[in-house]
Amino acid sequence: GNNSINAKLVLLGDMGTGKSSLVLRFVKGQFLEFQESTIGAAFFSQTLAVSDATVKLEIWDTAGQERYHSLAPMYYRGAAAAIIVYDISRMESFERAKKWVQELQKQGNPSMVTALVGNKCDLEDKREEARTYAEENGLFFMETSAKTAINVNDIFYEIARRLPRA
Ligand code: GTP
Ligand code: MG
Repeated sequence: GNNSINAKLVLLGDMGTGKSSLVLRFVKGQFLEFQESTIGAAFFSQTLAVSDATVKLEIWDTAGQERYHSLAPMYYRGAAAAIIVYDISRMESFERAKKWVQELQKQGNPSMVTALVGNKCDLEDKREEARTYAEENGLFFMETSAKTAINVNDIFYEIARRLPRA
């Protein structure tokens, strides 16, 4: 159809979980073994054609280092969608992801489309706990690998499909 929407999307999650790598994989089709840690935040935009709409995603890739935590509300405020990323090989990063879920439930836009993403699924296999948690919290869940590209496009397209239409 002719439906065209702009949506702000924010990526949140512990440092080193692969937020920038997911965006780089999605936007440029690339992967870097030595991706530099993000300072502050980085902005990207990407337009997706889904069946009934053209969705322009304005993507804010935030910095996971704890000292940047206080900046996060600037990026999730007004966001239509969030991707909360953890590293399936590092369960502390899953604990950090749950904290982000709670923060968004308290402070975020209540109609936000939120994805919980277990990245680095090329490394190990720890899916069940997170899937149950995601179902209980109304999130959609996917495991990804920015390295092998598995499910990376799928998250962004799934978000675009779930966004409310104008
Ligand atoms: P901050 O910017 O510090 O918050 O980190 P980040 O979440 O943006 O992580 P980043 O994308 O910088 O990735 C951290 C490291 O993990 C890099 O060395 C990446 O190459 C690596 N990495 C990212 N995604 C994957 C993946 O799916 N599989 C594997 N094996 N490594 C990955
Ligand atoms: Mg980064």
